[in-house]
Amino acid sequence: MHEIIEALDKRRDAARLGGGEKRIATQHSKGKLTARERLDVLLDPGSFEEYDMFVRHRATDFGMADTIIPGDGVVTGCGTINGRLTYVFSQDFTVFGGSLSETHAQKICKIMDLSVQNGAPVIGLNDSGGARIQEGVAALGGYAEVFWRNVQASGAIPQISVIMGPCAGGAVYSPAMTDFIYMVKDTSYMFVTGPDVVKTVTNEIVTQEELGGASTHTKISSVADAAFENDIETLLEVRRLFDFLPLSATDKVPVLAVNDTADRAEPSLDTIIPDSASKPYDMREVIVKLADEGDFLELQRDFAGNILTGFIRLDGGTVGVVANQPLVLAGCLDINSSKKAARFIRFCDSFSIPILTLVDVPGFLPGVAQEYGGIIKHGAKLLFAYAEATVPKVTVITRKAYGGAYDVMASKHIRADVNYAWPTAEIAVMGAKGATEILYRSELSDKEKIAARTKEYEDRFANPFVAAERGFIDDVILPRETRRRITRAFSTLRRKKVAMPVKKHDNIPL
Ligand code: HXC
Repeated sequence: MHEIIEALDKRRDAARLGGGEKRIATQHSKGKLTARERLDVLLDPGSFEEYDMFVRHRATDFGMADTIIPGDGVVTGCGTINGRLTYVFSQDFTVFGGSLSETHAQKICKIMDLSVQNGAPVIGLNDSGGARIQEGVAALGGYAEVFWRNVQASGAIPQISVIMGPCAGGAVYSPAMTDFIYMVKDTSYMFVTGPDVVKTVTNEIVTQEELGGASTHTKISSVADAAFENDIETLLEVRRLFDFLPLSATDKVPVLAVNDTADRAEPSLDTIIPDSASKPYDMREVIVKLADEGDFLELQRDFAGNILTGFIRLDGGTVGVVANQPLVLAGCLDINSSKKAARFIRFCDSFSIPILTLVDVPGFLPGVAQEYGGIIKHGAKLLFAYAEATVPKVTVITRKAYGGAYDVMASKHIRADVNYAWPTAEIAVMGAKGATEILYRSELSDKEKIAARTKEYEDRFANPFVAAERGFIDDVILPRETRRRITRAFSTLRRKKVAMPVKKHDNIPL
């Protein structure tokens, strides 16, 4: 028996060594952890249950029969994060560059199937050169099996991708179909084809970092939701994100014990709106003041800064926040902000996460570039996402809610449940200046007359009461009491049920 156990230990040690000491040292020299070290940081100590440690590839071409590494370049299994179950895979760059073979894919598929059956998220730590070149179509087929499962799992369980090395080809398309993508600054890249192929085809010369580094994907392409300094910080941030998420579509949002009171007043909000309507203020500050313990996990922070998206807790329960940001483009809606917020809203709705909307929006951004870029279609995404979302929706208009953007930003008409406004709210077709210039064009040369007209318009519409008189606003609330009022509103909506028309699925304007 002793010898049998020793033999098992030997097999395990061989699998744990992956591509060998030399390649592990190279991995470390780049500032990267190994696949297993990463799981140690991500999961609760001692919670990891590994599967398929002894799986071997079956390829024989290109000398592959002589290079067999147990585990085949990916560590898979399950574990817990603060006591809650998650399935994981962690690609091992020391084994054929983490490339995906048929058997490597089967290992990932196995844990994806288990995660859907058992209602727990999948977290993928990606560090892979894509399809294993030596395996040809067997590897391509393996990727397609993963892609198919990504789609089946979408909306059933949260899927989180962490990009922790150079990821090419299939290694980016699978993450692209998951809910969140986190990257590591300076050591992770995502591209469909790398710089060499780009140079051959288009003659463009770019570095890996320029083409697909964290900065590119968080600021320009918006492929990634966030990026962090190193492996450890990134994995700890994944744990933080995980704590906000329900385990599956049939689970409720987690409710944590928080060190805050639901009826906490926030007097500083009474003075946050500047005297002049054209002066900005920081909506992020409002969110932080409303959140339990001031904790706001912001997503896509570096992209489309005119809208803010992320998670907070109210009375311990997760709430998704969408908020116009007056500091950027005066908070106007444009193509990028519409797409950003629409995707976030659809995630929240898939997983029964209530949505808080904070509104200060002067309208859609005018311009040729916006029209040519398809603001009609992309703006419609946001309208569509809000209108189809059946989760509890609470809206607070802090200042401007003009024009179509008033309708879009979770208005009562597209079925927000509770709509509040601060006394500083202005709900109108447009701002007073623009309105008087159109209505009284013939009087424009008479400054006094125009000033009087503007004042008349402001008195009539630059307030929340016209909307409140019609019941479009449920109450005009004191800013300082917002936290208490929205927390209560969400608690009344916990058992909300909405009947939907029979359909296969909707047809959001993509
Ligand atoms: C087999 C691979 C591999 C791959 C890397 N390796 N990619 N082996 N299949 N796809 C191996 C290398 O041979 C090397 O082995 C080791 O991994 C480390 O690779 P390096 O090139 O030395 O590392 P680095 O310089 O860091 O470059 C990493 C890289 C580069 C940028 C990922 O290796 C690369 O460009 N690889 C090919 C990417 C690619 O085109 N993949 C196919 C995509 S098509 P040794 O033995 O020397 O350590 C695809 C189709 C899916 O995925 C369908 C999509 C819809």
